[in-house]
Amino acid sequence: MDTVLSGIRSTGNLHLGNYFGALRNFIRMQDENRCFFFIADIHSLTTHPDPKDLHGNVKNVLVDYLAAGIDPGKSVIYIQSDVPETIELYLYLNMHAYMGELAKTTSFKEKARKQPENVNAGLLTYPTLMAADILIHNADKVPVGKDQEQHLEMTRKFARRFNNFYGVEFFKEPVAYNFGEELVKIPGLDGSGKMGKSEGNAIYLADSPKEIEKKVKRALTDSGPTQPNSVKPDYIENLFTIMRVVSTPEVVEHYENKWNACDIRYGDLKKQLAEDIIKVTSPIRERILEIEKDDAYLRKVTREGAEKARESASKTIAAVREIVGFKKF
Ligand code: TYM
Repeated sequence: MDTVLSGIRSTGNLHLGNYFGALRNFIRMQDENRCFFFIADIHSLTTHPDPKDLHGNVKNVLVDYLAAGIDPGKSVIYIQSDVPETIELYLYLNMHAYMGELAKTTSFKEKARKQPENVNAGLLTYPTLMAADILIHNADKVPVGKDQEQHLEMTRKFARRFNNFYGVEFFKEPVAYNFGEELVKIPGLDGSGKMGKSEGNAIYLADSPKEIEKKVKRALTDSGPTQPNSVKPDYIENLFTIMRVVSTPEVVEHYENKWNACDIRYGDLKKQLAEDIIKVTSPIRERILEIEKDDAYLRKVTREGAEKARESASKTIAAVREIVGFKKF
């Protein structure tokens, strides 16, 4: 049985990108694997969130996990800061991670551009903390979206480097996983790159049908193609990309044909798209509204999750301490 691990930062509600890039696969994998799904609250500190918001954001992710179908009877669900063994492993991995390679990471360069007043060491070492999350349970597979590919490459590099340095075959080299398919990247509704929690271009799992209709209606379009079979501009291609994950192949084909024949009505496309998104999100939203009221249940899930995660993590840390040469007197 393979070990699966993944996490999502506690920086807001989860959106369609999180769902199709990661969360949907968590649920698909939980029957046949030993699964750990956690909430990356320590990672979220790299952007200095207000302490008043942190707990609420952790709760949002936890509720979204459960509402989307992660079953605490099958998977271990935990909060990163409840497992201090991760932080200890992060420290050891940092001794074998180098300034140059960390500073070259795409996510670091992006964040440094976005928050030039706060280029902290946590941002620089974000990939080693992520490697620690994964290696603490010696995971085989890590279901993530396309934007995490480089972090997984770095995790494998850190695992290999640790094994080589200490002359052991201890850590496995985990892979970014999407059932053998290309990793997913869901674009935003604003015609720009990817859907993101902080980009103002997201549809959230917790959005009401009305909000979703409004957001889809507002998506950028134009007056339509003037040449048959022309290449779509990015903002139109993005709508089709979202359609490909939420709608049936027949629906996608219908609108592709309309596009190719210069006969597309964006109003119809948007109506269909909103309807199909709502089909995915509304059962999740209904469960969110139930589960978020049940603090006793959330407490139980996180307490039991922390216990199981620490049981696994403490075994890894005991072995790592020995490998690095710490001995008891
Ligand atoms: P985060 O919180 O940015 O995103 C969580 C997951 O959602 C995926 N995702 C997307 N997938 C497709 N299209 C999008 N527009 C989109 N936006 C987000 C991400 O790829 C990710 O899988 N570093 C991680 C959190 C983390 C982690 C880990 C993940 C910390 N430690 C260990 C796996 C294993 C992150 O920032 O995810």
